[in-house]
Amino acid sequence: MSTSTPPEASKFLERTPGSRRVFEEASRYFPGGVNSAIQYFRPYPIYMVKGYGSRVWDVDENEYIDFCMAYGAMTAGHRNPAIVEAIREQVAEKGTLLGAPTPEALALAKELRKRIPALEMLRFTNSGGEATMYAVRLARAITKRDKIIKMEGAYHGAHDYLLISDKPSKYALMGSQHVPASIPDSEGTPEAVAKLTLVAHFNDLDCIEYLLKKHENEIAAIVTEPIQTNSGVIPPEAGYLKELRRLADYYGVLLIFDEVKTGFNAAPTAAHQLYGVEPDLITLGKVIGGGTPLAAFGGKEEYMEEITPIGRVVHYGTYNANPLSAAAGLACITKVFTEDTHRRMAELSVKLAKGLKEVAQDAGLTVAITQVGNMGSIFFGLDRAPRNFREAYRADKKLWYRWWLGMLAQGIIPYGGAWFEEWFISAMHTEEDVEKAIEASGELFRRFTRH
Ligand SMILES: Cc1ncc(COP(=O)(O)O)c(C=O)c1O
Repeated sequence: MSTSTPPEASKFLERTPGSRRVFEEASRYFPGGVNSAIQYFRPYPIYMVKGYGSRVWDVDENEYIDFCMAYGAMTAGHRNPAIVEAIREQVAEKGTLLGAPTPEALALAKELRKRIPALEMLRFTNSGGEATMYAVRLARAITKRDKIIKMEGAYHGAHDYLLISDKPSKYALMGSQHVPASIPDSEGTPEAVAKLTLVAHFNDLDCIEYLLKKHENEIAAIVTEPIQTNSGVIPPEAGYLKELRRLADYYGVLLIFDEVKTGFNAAPTAAHQLYGVEPDLITLGKVIGGGTPLAAFGGKEEYMEEITPIGRVVHYGTYNANPLSAAAGLACITKVFTEDTHRRMAELSVKLAKGLKEVAQDAGLTVAITQVGNMGSIFFGLDRAPRNFREAYRADKKLWYRWWLGMLAQGIIPYGGAWFEEWFISAMHTEEDVEKAIEASGELFRRFTRH
């Protein structure tokens, strides 16, 4: 263990020898022992075997209360019976992939459009990253412009168009306070592509308008979440989204709301509906597949009609709208995510937010807490909620890491594995789950203020 290893690590190491062994072997097959870099954390990831409801179990047979819920994709609850039944029936009676369109996808599309009026037409993809990639391509084709604006700190998938200034890790690289720099997050991103992605601050209309003016008639779309996530939860300030809509219209730019994470989590349907602002295009993912790989992009009919075969914007995919995912998604949306269930999830999320704030105050620890719908986040060392990524970045990440490891060691996964992730309450979480998370956090917070 290095000298920077926090005291919370020793219990974690004691409890997880099996994960360590699998990690060592897996590292010979997968870079870092994982298949998505976000699953890796120090000292090594926990290898999970199964889940049920709000719980998951690892290879050492430790049980965890899970508040990560696969980064918001599993908020129906692990192995939710309604979804298991739909999948079982689909696999046993009909098949997983027929190489042709099926009624299941149509049934899910109808349910989605009923709940989200902005989704006049849509196309299914397999991942949120594909959905945002196609939405950007479509916006470029419609406007005949190449540049796009995204927000600093926002994640929209790992493709070249949008993996720019997702998590710039040094202030020196971030560019000016006034206008962030466009920094590719990955080596291998062509400079020519990176240059087309301009970066603004969320909640900062001056910054956005500056870019719109400076690059007038060059910008195809503003791509943003209505509530920025993956920087912790950062809600829009009053009036911000309405003004963003106005600016997009004024400059002839499409407004794309990426609701892969917020959709059906931050709100009972799409989060933009909370604010009364409609996008031109929207992307969805995670919840809509009921725990299977499914996402979508869609929006105004006149725009979606530009997609092949009726238009000329190409969209393909062997597994697109596969009936297995469509059946799981349909069960999730219609049988699990009722308004009542969502209200209950949001109430538990409020309880968690309040409880964490209280135990932090009692321990004399400064934290800011943000929460919308079934999601929320904690920023150590901040005394007020951040307005954008750059403010969120000031949070104490070392303390976050101690909290994370300390919670894991107490059988609670409080978050996805990074300071900028969020908690998610599922349809199968209980009051007791939330109370345990508050109590375990309180114990850690008291320790943090002692040493
Ligand atoms: C807001 C947002 N957009 C897009 C994506 C990419 O989705 P996927 O991981 O399904 O490609 C994510 C993933 O976390 C996300 O949070």
